[in-house]
Amino acid sequence: MMKILFLDQSGKPGGAELCLIDIAKPYSDRCLVGLFADGSFKNLLQENKIPVQVLATQAIQVRKESSFAQGLGSLGQLAPIITKVAKIAREYDLIYANTQKALVVGAIASFLSRRPLVYHLHDILSDEHFSKTNRRIAVTCANRFASLVIANSQASKTAFVKAGGRADLTEIVYNGFDPKNYLIGESDVKQLRQELSLEGQFVVGHFSRLAPWKGQHILLEALAKCPQEVTALLVGDALFGEQDYVDSLHRQVSDLGLEKRVKFLGFRSDIPQLMSACDLVAHTSISPEPFGRVIVEAMLCGTPVVAAASGGAIELVEHDVNGFLATPGKPQELAQIITACLQESEKTATIAKNAQITASQRFDVTIINQQIAELLERNFGNNK
Ligand code: UDP
Ligand code: GLC
Repeated sequence: MMKILFLDQSGKPGGAELCLIDIAKPYSDRCLVGLFADGSFKNLLQENKIPVQVLATQAIQVRKESSFAQGLGSLGQLAPIITKVAKIAREYDLIYANTQKALVVGAIASFLSRRPLVYHLHDILSDEHFSKTNRRIAVTCANRFASLVIANSQASKTAFVKAGGRADLTEIVYNGFDPKNYLIGESDVKQLRQELSLEGQFVVGHFSRLAPWKGQHILLEALAKCPQEVTALLVGDALFGEQDYVDSLHRQVSDLGLEKRVKFLGFRSDIPQLMSACDLVAHTSISPEPFGRVIVEAMLCGTPVVAAASGGAIELVEHDVNGFLATPGKPQELAQIITACLQESEKTATIAKNAQITASQRFDVTIINQQIAELLERNFGNNK
């Protein structure tokens, strides 16, 4: 089996990082995850017995709006970490970059250490998400240095190619999940609903880091247009410094008089339990979602899900078949769908059951890991 050096810039467990845990696990006896920041992601890797090393103690600053010159300036900042990675990489067969800064570092380190590079693309490289400069840097590094790009959805691949990325390098592999982890017993669900005082309510859960593009404000606006018994749980925290947005959400709750109908739970590790305790999960991103782990997770829990119809979400959800789709940024439409779910509970339950069955096959982590292993074998195996 191949020895892989995984690289990820984040110390915090976002979706790309949670995905990496599942990808690295089969290689845990011969891989290393190199992080560019310390934090709770490191602990999660350790709990999963995946070797991890923090390679930089100071946060690397590459701002969204940075110009090409600033971009080059931050390359200078990256020099020590590039040297470190290039040295470590000589002990491995392959560098696997899981984020954009990891791609930049991995690209140069791959050149220096003569090790092949894989880029796992978790982002939609469009102007809604990234500056032109950052798009250009990512595409150039990938085209020039990567032997394989793994896109987390068709939407991410399409945006990559549109930004100038090489289609011939790119394969699509969805995130994988262990369906067992999402089967929560009825008594646990009942207890959790009691603990959170949710009895008698129609609970809409939103599971995501708090960030403007994740659109929690759209759900709050929709909630104000729903019957009184509809309440919301906002699960997740600002992971990347979006404190202004957090403040604005709290203001919005009081402006709309929703204090009794909205709970902020912060970052939680019991997502399957919480999702199972919800009557509906809402995904409300106002920019295209590259994949949307929370959508699949809701399906695996058997909880109905409504998602913003854009990006990877439309590859996951077929309206009225395994969930519901709402136009992004339209609270009125979202409110109508929520209300319909509340009123047509039988139809909604059938759709959720469908979703649970199909998602547990389509996104089974064992199958997804096989796909990745085959791609790596085909591109980098001994008998290639
Ligand atoms: N998540 C979590 N705790 C929280 C909120 C979210 O563990 O409080 C997880 C969630 O279950 C999902 C991931 O974070 O697996 C978010 O991934 P997603 O692809 O939905 O969005 P991203 O944040 O990566 O853009
Ligand atoms: C990124 C994307 C998210 C995706 C996750 C895992 O964090 O924002 O949509 O689900 O990666 O691929």
